[in-house]
Amino acid sequence: MTTTAEDTTAPAPEEDLLLDVRGVKVHFPIKRGVVLDRVVGHVYAVDGVDLQIRRGETYGLVGESGCGKSTLGKAILGLEPPTEGSVVIDGTDIASLAGEQLRRRRKDFQMVFQDPMSSLDPRQSVESLLVEGMRAHGLASDDAATSARLRELLAAVGLPAAALKKYPHEFSGGQRQRIGIARALAVEPKLIVADEPVSALDVSVQAQVINLLEELQERLGLTYLVVAHDLAVVRHISDRIGVMYLGGLVEEATADDLYTTPLHPYTRALLSAVPLPDPVAEDRREQVLLVGDLPSPSRPPTGCRFHTRCPWRQETRCADERPTLRAVDVPGVPAGHRVACHWAEEIERGEITPHEVTPTATTQDWRGTDEGDAIGPASETEAQVSPTGP
Ligand SMILES: Nc1ncnc2c1ncn2[C@@H]1O[C@H](COP(=O)(O)OP(=O)(O)OP(=O)(O)O)[C@@H](O)[C@H]1O
Ligand code: SF4
Ligand SMILES: [Mg+2]
Repeated sequence: MTTTAEDTTAPAPEEDLLLDVRGVKVHFPIKRGVVLDRVVGHVYAVDGVDLQIRRGETYGLVGESGCGKSTLGKAILGLEPPTEGSVVIDGTDIASLAGEQLRRRRKDFQMVFQDPMSSLDPRQSVESLLVEGMRAHGLASDDAATSARLRELLAAVGLPAAALKKYPHEFSGGQRQRIGIARALAVEPKLIVADEPVSALDVSVQAQVINLLEELQERLGLTYLVVAHDLAVVRHISDRIGVMYLGGLVEEATADDLYTTPLHPYTRALLSAVPLPDPVAEDRREQVLLVGDLPSPSRPPTGCRFHTRCPWRQETRCADERPTLRAVDVPGVPAGHRVACHWAEEIERGEITPHEVTPTATTQDWRGTDEGDAIGPASETEAQVSPTGP
């Protein structure tokens, strides 16, 4: 995590940007019918995200399961083409790359996956796993240099050189994630997207892996996008944090600002579920309970996506007008702290108080009726019970 003075300000000037995501949407078609394969709707997994990450920065992306974090990560890495919008990495729009050009640029952006067991081929030794990527990018032509590099990589992630001859199943979960990190590092990337890098690990080793990512960043000048559903995981490693809800960012701030002054009702709810070490502060702080399920991204609510669960929801605007991510007029809150809520200032000043929320059925299709009536489950829970899909 970098600690420069500019961390508390608005997004970096153009020349500092490593990643510039503008208006990115990823919509998956829902098809039905055996013969005609009719498109009956869409899953609006990512629905209009602007996100900038400067060089050497760690950006934490948090949100509930199904809100579109992994899909956004994949769109950034060119693994899922955006339906709309642009992803510019180090000055190059990745949509302008294809074939060999894209393959060559892939070395600049690597992914660390959630489950190291399923992302590492069990039949390949660690040496072969690491050399594979290096070879693909022409980084393993000299045997002596490759061998030295492999030892260096293992040392960097805290594993002995003897690990090279072993296979993934011979390691613990934490060690396997270290191998996953070494594999990403092997091709000297500029950006690493770590998708839930510690959520499959025992709590006792989570901190070790997070610390390792931090150490490597300082040493190698890496830039990270760290995805997690748990705010506690990203807090210490992140310079800035983006909170995602149903395909869009609802709040973005430096890690400290977000924790001390959460302004969006959804962030307030997420944070009130994180226990505080100080029992007095714990007793005093606002408790916001999230009622109801995350609505299905195939039928997102109208207006503010959070209005079906928001304790501060108002009669005007909330259900009709989608709020944009904007700087707020709250004393002491820097311009870089942006919130997508029509009433953020009034809520912060206590002029609007929370009320009880009755869970609402999310049956409305805010994009009209041209896509059919029944287009998928009403919520993420329903989706898991009776999956529908393309
Ligand atoms: N290839 C696909 N086709 C159709 N729908 C998809 C596809 N990939 C993801 N989705 C849907 O898009 C939504 C967002 O999924 P995504 O995996 O990005 O969420 P997430 O925030 O990463 O969740 P989690 O925390 O569970 O990993 C979900 O409703 C998911 O079912
Ligand atoms: S815009 Fe309305 S519904 Fe959305 S978070 Fe703000 S108060 Fe809640
Ligand atoms: Mg995910």
